[in-house]
Amino acid sequence: MAETIIDLRGMPRAEAYEELSVQVDAVLQGIHDEVAAMATISALIHHGFDHLWTGFYRVAEPGRLLRIGPYQGTLGCMEIQFGKGVCGTAAAERRTAIVADVSAFDGHITCDPRSRSEIVVPVFDGSGALIAVLDVDSDRIAAFDDTDRKGLEKVVSWFARH
Ligand code: SME
Repeated sequence: MAETIIDLRGMPRAEAYEELSVQVDAVLQGIHDEVAAMATISALIHHGFDHLWTGFYRVAEPGRLLRIGPYQGTLGCMEIQFGKGVCGTAAAERRTAIVADVSAFDGHITCDPRSRSEIVVPVFDGSGALIAVLDVDSDRIAAFDDTDRKGLEKVVSWFARH
């Protein structure tokens, strides 16, 4: 396979996510394995945008516990309870959480002190069950907005479609 990671940094953000979705579907053609998809999606997003940390926390105990899954970046925390931190909040509420300034988020879990803002997107399977969250961290304040939410929600719709 001769696929290389596309540099998405110079593009308008909505267009970058379109490119990303096309590339995710192309690279994962014929693959029906969640872990392979999480690893591949993490790599494409992380290096495509040059984020600080990009990866998945998988549902280990439904409604209770998330555990680290495939990711790119520095060492992630091993486990996060539903309702705790940004990841646990997005998991408990089953909706995307955008935090413009992590120092102002009560209960933020610090894995890498350079992280300034983050977005966490819930990941559902085809039956609507929550299987993971996708966490993307930036070393810039307010790096994420609604365009990122829409783009990343589209990318993780892969798991509902396969
Ligand atoms: N900041 C996250 C924890 C995960 S790491 O940043 C990789 C949170 O508050 O849920």
